[in-house]
Amino acid sequence: MKGIILAGGAGSRLYPLTLVASKQLQPVYDKPMVYYPLSTLLEQGVADIALISTPQDLPRFKQLLGSGERFGVTFTYIEQPKPEGIAQAFILAEQFIDNEPVSLILGDNLFSGGESTIRAAYQTFKGGARLFAYPVDDAQRYGVLSFEPDGKLSKIVEKPSIPPSRYAVPGLYLYDSSVVQRAKALQPSKRGELEITDLNNTYITEGLAQVLFFERGFAWLDAGTSTSLHDASAYVQTIERRQGIKLGCPEEAAFRAGLLSTEKFSQELEKIPRSEYRDYLERILLHHPKRT
Ligand code: G1P
Repeated sequence: MKGIILAGGAGSRLYPLTLVASKQLQPVYDKPMVYYPLSTLLEQGVADIALISTPQDLPRFKQLLGSGERFGVTFTYIEQPKPEGIAQAFILAEQFIDNEPVSLILGDNLFSGGESTIRAAYQTFKGGARLFAYPVDDAQRYGVLSFEPDGKLSKIVEKPSIPPSRYAVPGLYLYDSSVVQRAKALQPSKRGELEITDLNNTYITEGLAQVLFFERGFAWLDAGTSTSLHDASAYVQTIERRQGIKLGCPEEAAFRAGLLSTEKFSQELEKIPRSEYRDYLERILLHHPKRT
């Protein structure tokens, strides 16, 4: 399965932080934000990844992530000239997708602790759409699941003033290759965007969408506002200090997923400047069973 990281948008809600660097390049505790969704894709062994961003920001992502070789993967960089919606990503990436299944993750979404649910979604994917659900207190900020009285999923409602349920749809989606044609058939919403929610509803209407509910203890954070950015940093710091692990570490994710051999991992490590980050990766190398 291919992967897309969508890191577009003006990030205007984070102004003035986003005057010189886009939202997804801002630090979440000790790493750039985009490291977290990137690690989520790498953990699932996704090795062919397109990063979509604005013409201004794309060169900075290239500078940060390079060709992908150091993570054992390939990056393709695609411009989104204007912020015309999440679903537009599939039209922009049509060539990259090349009639294969594809998963999209938003560049400001952080997933922590839900590996088994996410892994199951990837490993058992057979077509249609796979979406996730997560209960939140402020559902009006998101796409929200709406159910029939008998409990059957009826649709997703985007940013409803009165949420039909507490279940928000996080920014990680898996689709079959029909996603490109579906995106092309969408009409822009009132805010002038091709909505991911409208796209998902085409799969739901046809009975082709499956929703997986994240287990208790799983954390989904988005970092689109100053408060949520700060909360995400505080969360990452708490987990990292308490458990002595790092979240959102793409080198580690690639190594654990077998995208990097032990030899390549240790070679790449040598290129990293002396830092807490490198010390951490050295510990991972030392304690991990040898892989060739
Ligand atoms: C977008 C989607 C929404 C989804 C959310 C997840 O919202 O439109 O359905 O729940 O991402 O982060 P936006 O980033 O436009 O606020």
